[in-house]
Amino acid sequence: AGAATAHALDDGLARTPPLGWNNWYATFCDVDEQLIKQTADAMVASGMREAGYRYVNIDDCWMARERDSRGRLQADPDKFPNGIKALADYVHARGLKLGIYEDVGTKTCAGYPGSLGHEREDARTFAEWGVDFVKVDWCNVPFDQFPGMSQQEVAKELYGRWSRAIQRSGRKMVFSICIWDPSVRSWEFGEPLAHMWRTSNDYGPTWGQIVANADHAETLGEFAGPGGWNDPDIMMVGLGDLSTEEDRSHFSLWSMLAAPLLAGNDLRTMTWQDREILTNREVLAVDQDRLGVPGRKLRVDGDLEVWSRP
Ligand code: GLA
Repeated sequence: AGAATAHALDDGLARTPPLGWNNWYATFCDVDEQLIKQTADAMVASGMREAGYRYVNIDDCWMARERDSRGRLQADPDKFPNGIKALADYVHARGLKLGIYEDVGTKTCAGYPGSLGHEREDARTFAEWGVDFVKVDWCNVPFDQFPGMSQQEVAKELYGRWSRAIQRSGRKMVFSICIWDPSVRSWEFGEPLAHMWRTSNDYGPTWGQIVANADHAETLGEFAGPGGWNDPDIMMVGLGDLSTEEDRSHFSLWSMLAAPLLAGNDLRTMTWQDREILTNREVLAVDQDRLGVPGRKLRVDGDLEVWSRP
């Protein structure tokens, strides 16, 4: 791999790392139409759209507990009374894009309907709704249905199905692989199937966990480039008790890694410091550099590190 190689789906999407927001670390399963609409509004009002942010991504728990009578996914009618298509229209009207969530297994991580055996129709449903970004998780995979195959092989097979389903759906959608188990190395097959792939397990808003995610992604730079990126996860800027310096350093590290920058904080109530960090034009320009070569550690001397990025 590397900058000179053709990367990923070559569909023109994610030529630079996607910029946006995801609700998981801000609200976990508490997701509804109001949150998504208000977040889209906040993305505009805060200047984040102007700075390049586009994706407003819904995570787990958006679905009804069952598929409809024709086997199609449906939104929880209490959380999304107007359905996802109307929500996509709202987000698009503000110059933004809508993301959604599924899982390759029988159920999502939170126990909602999974996509195993429904990949084609689910991708088509998302395309019909006007979805622009699909995150597909790795919970409840029935490995016994794949005798003789390693988890690595099952992963490649199932995400391959989703990749083809999206390509045949009739709509261009960013495809985000969410294999949170780092012993399954999605970076090895992420390109050419997907636009981004997780490099570590779920984490929390502590400096130690931020550094651990950055350190792991840093070793995988050769796998990333225009069209396909290492994803050290949604950012923690503005979450927990991180200091302003830790938030700044976190944002800078993700940018040096050419990581997707998905804000994880509540944009409706963020402080001006968080807004300034997330909209820092010079740091965003490092992340969005067109060459797409991730940074590396040039030198490690105890706690002192020198990073460099072409
Ligand atoms: C996994 C993923 C998270 C989030 C949750 C939702 O833990 O890694 O990013 O999507 O599932 O249940």
